[in-house]
Amino acid sequence: MARTGLLVVLCITFVLLDLALSQSSKPKAGKKRRSKEKETDGDLKTQIDKLWREVNSLKEMQALQTVCLRGTKVHKRCYLAFDGPKHFHEANEDCIAKGGTLATPRSSDENNAVRDYGKKSLPGETEIWLGINDMVTEGKFVDVNGIAINYFNWNKAQPNGGKRENCALLNQSAQGRWQDEVCRSLKKYICEFIIP
Ligand SMILES: *[C@@H]1O[C@H](CO)[C@@H](O)[C@H](O)[C@H]1NC(C)=O
Repeated sequence: MARTGLLVVLCITFVLLDLALSQSSKPKAGKKRRSKEKETDGDLKTQIDKLWREVNSLKEMQALQTVCLRGTKVHKRCYLAFDGPKHFHEANEDCIAKGGTLATPRSSDENNAVRDYGKKSLPGETEIWLGINDMVTEGKFVDVNGIAINYFNWNKAQPNGGKRENCALLNQSAQGRWQDEVCRSLKKYICEFIIP
């Protein structure tokens, strides 16, 4: 459906572009006329810009739907797992490049969703990066935007790595509870995408 919608919008865009080009290539008569044509050209340009923005936002929506179809959709989020394994920073950058962030559960519901999806999509994988770290201030765990988080699900006696372990992961052997880990260790990861 989304693909059809995109195609329709693309067709409309091309028809309008064609129209704009044929109008601007019409022979021009007199100075007065020319300034009027300039105005029309301006209007068309605005319209084409607007359509272009719409096409791009449709493309983004379509990419998101593809993510949601390949991964899983829970509440207002889509999760998509990646085999990696990557360092925390690389995993984080990969999620951002795809238009999301590393999965950052904000409630036990979301944590369970990430855990269950992780079990299914990364079978046998016990540790999965989360978008949570205390790199800037030891002991102060924040999300990948540096914003303090207020839902925690640490495993017992965690976090315990002090300044050495600054990145959080979800431990499948501990029912999805968290532990801190050296950021440079290689882990699989799940990206999270917010559906508009
Ligand atoms: C994951 O949790 C289990 C159960 O608490 C624990 O035995 C195990 O050591 C944890 N994994 C790591 C790598 O710490």
